[in-house]
Amino acid sequence: NGPTLKGSAPPGLRVGAAVSAALFEDPAYAALVAREFSSVTPENAMKWQATEANEGTFVYGLADAIVTWATRHGIAVRGHTLIWHDSAPGWLYQIRDAARMRQVMGAHIRALMTHYPQVTTWDVVNEAVSDAPGHPLRANSPFAVAGPDYIAHAFREAHAANPQARLYYNDYSADGINGKSDAIYALLRDLLAQGVPIHGVGFQAHLDETYDVTASRVTENLRRFRALGLDVHLTEVDVTLRGPPTPDALKRQARVYHDLLTACRAAGCSNFTLWGVTDLSSWRAAAYPLPFDDDGRPKPAHAALIAAL
Ligand code: XIL
Repeated sequence: NGPTLKGSAPPGLRVGAAVSAALFEDPAYAALVAREFSSVTPENAMKWQATEANEGTFVYGLADAIVTWATRHGIAVRGHTLIWHDSAPGWLYQIRDAARMRQVMGAHIRALMTHYPQVTTWDVVNEAVSDAPGHPLRANSPFAVAGPDYIAHAFREAHAANPQARLYYNDYSADGINGKSDAIYALLRDLLAQGVPIHGVGFQAHLDETYDVTASRVTENLRRFRALGLDVHLTEVDVTLRGPPTPDALKRQARVYHDLLTACRAAGCSNFTLWGVTDLSSWRAAAYPLPFDDDGRPKPAHAALIAAL
């Protein structure tokens, strides 16, 4: 019954976790999430493949369960994610006409955002910037058919669907200063200059135990996005081990968590979300990436996070 992440966080900073509806049937899991977190992100339940696998047929059961549970516990929900190539069902790839793709994107965005008016933070576009040299927009995204301004289109549709909502661009490998974060910075700066309604940027931060927060210049990176007037969230934090969970490895992992949260705070970030709760529940379970072990017991990373709060 020691200190919790939620209880240790300063006002203005939510600490969150990605959750899955099925796991809430385990009362220990639900109790752990309720005790430690002030924000939850549906890990998969709101993605296109889960909510509109067939055009115009919307399936909300799993996401409803999460949103209802969170609301009952006074926990905020980060909506994740409206436009993401990786979760696009096959029928989207059949669309070859820009106008039709724009209409389908708008319909999906409106459906989700009006079904969840209580969700006021959304990852509108996820992972649009590629890892290719020069970091152009992903050519293999089905949404590219909508035209080079498909990102602006998505944000405008989202703003029209819920003018109250805070709208985010989210991506990976952009936590430090590097070519990809430079490209995202330029993209968001240009969208803002065009008056596109975008309010924040999410950095996923899927890291490993060797990651050096200082050498990567994370604080400086987050600050430059803040200087554009954007809110900054750390949205999918996990820190994998390269081998077994020895005391030394767990110490290195704790250090990365500590330094990342310290950088987040130094830059005035407003949400720090883990990509899962226990190691067992993680998409990278084999690499022990989270601050709670398979049985939900706090690891050294948990104390390290609290020390950074
Ligand atoms: C992952 C989930 O964790 C997995 O369960 C699923 O199979 C694939 O998606 N970037 C994102 C997240 O934005 O939505 C992804 O989540 C991980 C990478």
